[in-house]
Amino acid sequence: MSSNLTEQTITEAVRRTFDTSTDERFRQLFVCLVQHIHDFAREVRLTGDEWFTAVNFVERLGKISSPTRQEVVLLSDILGLSMLLDKINQHTGSSATDSALLGPFYVKGRPTANNGADISDGVAGTPMFVTGRVVDERGRPISGAHVDTWHSDGVGFYDVQLTEKLHGEFAMRALLTTDDDGRFWYRSITPRYYPVPTDGPCGEILRAANRSIMRPQHVHFWFRAEGHRPLITQLFLRDDPYIDRDAVFAAQDSLLADFVRHDPGIAPDGTTVESAFVTLDWTFVLATQPAGQ
Ligand code: BEZ
Ligand code: FE
Repeated sequence: MSSNLTEQTITEAVRRTFDTSTDERFRQLFVCLVQHIHDFAREVRLTGDEWFTAVNFVERLGKISSPTRQEVVLLSDILGLSMLLDKINQHTGSSATDSALLGPFYVKGRPTANNGADISDGVAGTPMFVTGRVVDERGRPISGAHVDTWHSDGVGFYDVQLTEKLHGEFAMRALLTTDDDGRFWYRSITPRYYPVPTDGPCGEILRAANRSIMRPQHVHFWFRAEGHRPLITQLFLRDDPYIDRDAVFAAQDSLLADFVRHDPGIAPDGTTVESAFVTLDWTFVLATQPAGQ
């Protein structure tokens, strides 16, 4: 290694130190990473103070993070990296439903529910009736698919954020299974737009950029079915006031849905509802899992 490194030659010197790796993908990732961060520092003429601010920022990302507070993932989300990954790994030419972020509010061990169940678990709000169908790329129903669904309440809080009210109990989330015709259905309450967590380092970036901190109203879904690629996605309220400024760039035209408002009356499940209610209906398309994957 040369001891006479310059601003220009140091990059190649560092790149070469990865030549001895036997892991080709590791080598490719790090050589490219070194090239890009060096180019970045040269292009913006990064100062020592700025480097120190960045180091302190990364330290604080780590300190605030926990299993229920994923600040590093949030950084990836607000920088659009998480959705870029979704797009990179999407299978072009497939008619499968577009994917959208998992987000931090997915919880393992959620309750299973039968189709038709009220999954609001007593949280008050405008009743919402969700009907869905899961099909393959040729439109054939996928029966026995697992449907994980979760969403916020009418003020924008998930059950995990309502700890005092719910004492750690699950609400507005469930695992359902599609019937022979690929259908699933449930009753819950209508969610609302909400802010991403802004009391940590990511909030500083959003404020400094004067950016929207909101996520438009959405319902999350995670589908798993034998022989098909899993699908993690969200459906968004088409005319939400924040639909064009989702803080994490997940809202997209193909996932805009009508949350149709109805006067009191007969709901899709045949029950009589005394208050106004909302219906949401969607067909989800899963891609076939190639053999051996
Ligand atoms: C969510 O959709 O639950 C979410 C995604 C990214 C950041 C914050 C929330
Ligand atoms: Fe969400």
